[in-house]
Amino acid sequence: MTEKPLILGVLASGRGSNLQALIDAIETGMLSARIAVVLSNKGDASVLERAKKHGIPTFFYDPKAVDSREAYDGLLCETLQKYEVELLVLAGYMRLLTKALVLPFRERIINIHPSLLPAFPGLYAHRQAIDYGVKVSGCTVHFVDEKMDHGPVIAQASVPVKENDTESSLANRILKEEHRLFPKVIQWYAEKRLRIEGRRVLLVPEI
Ligand code: GRF
Repeated sequence: MTEKPLILGVLASGRGSNLQALIDAIETGMLSARIAVVLSNKGDASVLERAKKHGIPTFFYDPKAVDSREAYDGLLCETLQKYEVELLVLAGYMRLLTKALVLPFRERIINIHPSLLPAFPGLYAHRQAIDYGVKVSGCTVHFVDEKMDHGPVIAQASVPVKENDTESSLANRILKEEHRLFPKVIQWYAEKRLRIEGRRVLLVPEI
């Protein structure tokens, strides 16, 4: 375990089950981190309620209230810096980031995506996997750059795709793995065990 908890900022647009997994991992001592702030582009996202329940400051920023994507990200960046966020976690955040966030948080932003990237980036990853006919899918945690679901892969977990799967049965199976993988990877980051070499991310052995 690291001595000082890693300070996290979370961007999310939806129900927030991954945020909950991080809160739970922190509460059980598995993850040495503190969630300083949760930001959303959706005012009615249930992730905001979950955060409030745990006393985490939340902010809704309306994308329609600003002129450009860069200006919007600039606003987010100001708040994240005010809360001294060290690692920015995208947990179901449905917008692409611009340079206004990616540059100040270079190599300090991670995302979770419900497929084995580079397969099935973007929306409807579960439907894409079923329609393509793959037999295995899963989730990917990766560093974030300006392209969609693109930055260096940190870790993946796989699940079978069954013949009778629907989007929701596959999503539930993958989600269980997401909730296990995300806190684990963030703990590695907190322990400074991740080294980026080009597109590859190496996991340095525990000291
Ligand atoms: C998850 O499936 C995640 O992989 C994707 O968006 C979904 C968010 O779910 N990026 P939740 O809001 O964390 O429940």
